[in-house]
Amino acid sequence: MSANRPAAVVVLAAGEGTRMKSATPKVLHAICGRSLVGHVVAAARELDPEHLVVIVGHAREQVAGHLAEIDPGVRTAVQHEQNGTGHAVRMGLEELSNNGIALDGTVVVVCGDTPLLTGETLQRLSATHTADGNAVTVLTAEVPDSTGYGRIVRDEATGAVTAIVEHKDATDAQRAIREINSGVFAFDAQLLTDALGKVRTDNSQGEEYLTDVLGILREAGHRVGAAVAGDHREILGINNRVQLAEARKLLNERLLHAAMMSGVTVVDPATTWVDVTVTFEADALVQPGTQLVGATHVATGAEVGPNTRLTDTSVGAGARVDNTVADSAVIGENATVGPYAYLRPGTRLGAKSKAGAYVEMKNAEIGEGTKVPHLSYVGDATIGEYTNIGAASVFVNYDGVNKHHTTIGSHCRTGSDNMFVAPVTIGDGAYTAAGSVITKDVPPGSLAVARGQQRNIEGWVARKRPGSAAAQAASAARQATDGEQ
Ligand code: UD1
Ligand code: CA
Repeated sequence: MSANRPAAVVVLAAGEGTRMKSATPKVLHAICGRSLVGHVVAAARELDPEHLVVIVGHAREQVAGHLAEIDPGVRTAVQHEQNGTGHAVRMGLEELSNNGIALDGTVVVVCGDTPLLTGETLQRLSATHTADGNAVTVLTAEVPDSTGYGRIVRDEATGAVTAIVEHKDATDAQRAIREINSGVFAFDAQLLTDALGKVRTDNSQGEEYLTDVLGILREAGHRVGAAVAGDHREILGINNRVQLAEARKLLNERLLHAAMMSGVTVVDPATTWVDVTVTFEADALVQPGTQLVGATHVATGAEVGPNTRLTDTSVGAGARVDNTVADSAVIGENATVGPYAYLRPGTRLGAKSKAGAYVEMKNAEIGEGTKVPHLSYVGDATIGEYTNIGAASVFVNYDGVNKHHTTIGSHCRTGSDNMFVAPVTIGDGAYTAAGSVITKDVPPGSLAVARGQQRNIEGWVARKRPGSAAAQAASAARQATDGEQ
């Protein structure tokens, strides 16, 4: 636990986010596998605060429900009307005091729509705040375009922060300032509580501005400090879907950068998309056009892509996964998948096994070295080791009401175009003939033949299709054969 452990982190997430033009509340939009507010909560957790409070307002049941799912330790405070950021923080502090919690130490405030903010930056802010003995420390950034942001006003002589002026309330000279308020602060809890009681609403938006607390504390003779963010992109706030896409790209770049630095080859970072929960081992290789989602893991020496989407899928060492969609599948070491395979939940491919071109699998356990090379559907099945399933086979698992299981043993050779009508069991070392509809169990080592007998009706074409091209071709072939004899 760090010596800088804050008493509380307050996350502001009550706003509607009208510019998203969405039925989904802004902070529940997701990038890289986590909601916007989820990213902020995760960063806040790195500070190990005693209390973590999220201010909810717009669609508060939905937002609170989501928070309970992703982090049950989060407390929510309701702000019924969005009367400003200062008012929102006040609601958070009241929620705590109403529950008998007296804050002592540092309160960190962050916005719920800044998903790129890192725990490291929050830690640096908190450390600066404590080391400098400040009443408030604001995280600032120099941005190329400061339009819309609160501007950081500094004393010309000392460089000390004197105030934050909102864009709408700023003079032309103040609008030229490129250092902006990130919306992230560290406060002394007691001084914050006192100052919030003094914040007025005589501004262009008629709101209680949290930013006014700085001027109030400074005028009362307290220390006001600033920490400048190393990378201004980290404090990017999401207001619309263009910014949502920008943030997704930046976060994705950050995740891929970390993967590459740890020994993963990413052939084309621009077309590779990963979630924060994806893990790699060194010497994994990712080909272009690949999307790795959820708890997907790619082990050493494995190659995934191009044009592949893996969700909650584990790829074993040395496996090859090409042009594939997989969800909740386990791909064994040195297995090969695709091109054009679809692995659905419950697929478990053993080491050195194969799910080849145009193969779909679901709830199927495939043993070591077993191959399903071409154009097949394997559903609700267990297949042993070193078995080969012929091309264009279907595991007929569904009778319209119930799903049934097929079991095939080890070292079997099933013919092409087989239908395995479940429930059915094929013993070890058995063979089946091409085109068979297997409805009965096959004992170990037997050959099963289950298809109509072939009947040739001599001269049918000459009788039924006289004069046709087929009849002429047949006649010519017969004459040639007769000539030979
Ligand atoms: C705010 C800051 C501005 C800063 C900018 C950084 C104030 C007055 N202004 O401006 O200095 O540069 O953030 O992005 O603080 N919220 C509530 N309840 C409210 C109002 C807002 O929970 O009553 C939440 C919003 O949901 C959002 C955050 O607070 O997550 C910021 O609010 P927003 O309206 O986006 O503030 P800005 O105008 O961007
Ligand atoms: Ca904003």
